[in-house]
Amino acid sequence: MSRALDDGAFAGKQEDPSAVDAASLLAWYDRHARRLPWRVGPAERRRGLRPDAYAVWLSEIMLQQTTVTAVAPYFHSFLARWPTVADLAAAPETEVMAAWAGLGYYSRARNLIAAARAIAAAGRFPETAAGLAALPGIGAYTSAAIASIAFGEPAPVVDGNVERVIARAFAIATPLPRAKAEIRDRLAPLVPADRPGEFAEALMDLGATICTPKRPACALCPWRDGCRALAAGTQAAFPVKARKPPRPVRHGTAFVAVRGDGAILLRRRPPKGLLGGMAEVPGGPWGDDPHAPTEPPLDAAWRIADRSITHVFTHFELRLTIMQADLPDHSAPPAGCWWSGRHEVNGEALPSVMRKAIAAACPDALFVQRKP
Ligand code: ADE
Repeated sequence: MSRALDDGAFAGKQEDPSAVDAASLLAWYDRHARRLPWRVGPAERRRGLRPDAYAVWLSEIMLQQTTVTAVAPYFHSFLARWPTVADLAAAPETEVMAAWAGLGYYSRARNLIAAARAIAAAGRFPETAAGLAALPGIGAYTSAAIASIAFGEPAPVVDGNVERVIARAFAIATPLPRAKAEIRDRLAPLVPADRPGEFAEALMDLGATICTPKRPACALCPWRDGCRALAAGTQAAFPVKARKPPRPVRHGTAFVAVRGDGAILLRRRPPKGLLGGMAEVPGGPWGDDPHAPTEPPLDAAWRIADRSITHVFTHFELRLTIMQADLPDHSAPPAGCWWSGRHEVNGEALPSVMRKAIAAACPDALFVQRKP
């Protein structure tokens, strides 16, 4: 090959807009970045704006296993109510749990409070992925996301969307979760030292808007010429996933006691474990037997509600039979329970499963699904 051709090929590669590299992805991001409430976009960054570590951290915790659409209103209400990490650190735990209600995965809220208190006590945010990972609720993904977005550390950020993008771009045949190390190894050399946070955000946007799980819009992809799955027409085969065992089903009974004035009987769940520290209507343990008898919390004319409910948790599906009873206005609450008034119940730290249970028994309750 002549020298002139060599140079030409090299120059062509440098200018190729769709090779799998940071330059092509960032050029795409500069034009197509999503506008998200917690994001400092490319134009704002060019004007010298930098993301606030508190806002980045809060958003990344909320976004764990939760969609952008679901998170946005919670993000706004948390920032309005607790504008700094010191404000959040000083907040009573029950208020934070109540504000989190409806967002799910409640251990995140408990960890959020613990981390806020640790950061406030230290007087500053840790600025490295390693330092951030020492805080409660911050794992490999979240520490890398905060470190790169808020502090410019070139850490590879790998969430579910990024796994899909990289598995397709490099046609990684190893099944997930085993493929995680290989995905990181492929991604790490691509992370640019000058714009690591925007590179992470760009990859997330690519996964959310172009390289979608179904029917990816490959014609619009900035990496289309370099993508190995697209070249082979095998996009749908990636990421390869290990077969998951089916989700087990658990059964339980929930007792919705309603006073004449509309108050509902609640109690608090134990501080640790699933939905720890959240409010609930009384009920029995959740187990394998759909017919296990359960003691009601108080004597009343209990009747079975027209609707039962199903709620999907990460590790099991819960089917709750709903019992309901009407109680006189001045009934005393049993030990460990309280009556939550018609106008208070929506502000309780009630997880979605309990909101569904109450709505099944009393469709007229003041809420159905919570919006902050
Ligand atoms: N998912 C997780 N973190 C995100 C972020 N910073 N932007 C958009 N989606 C995300």
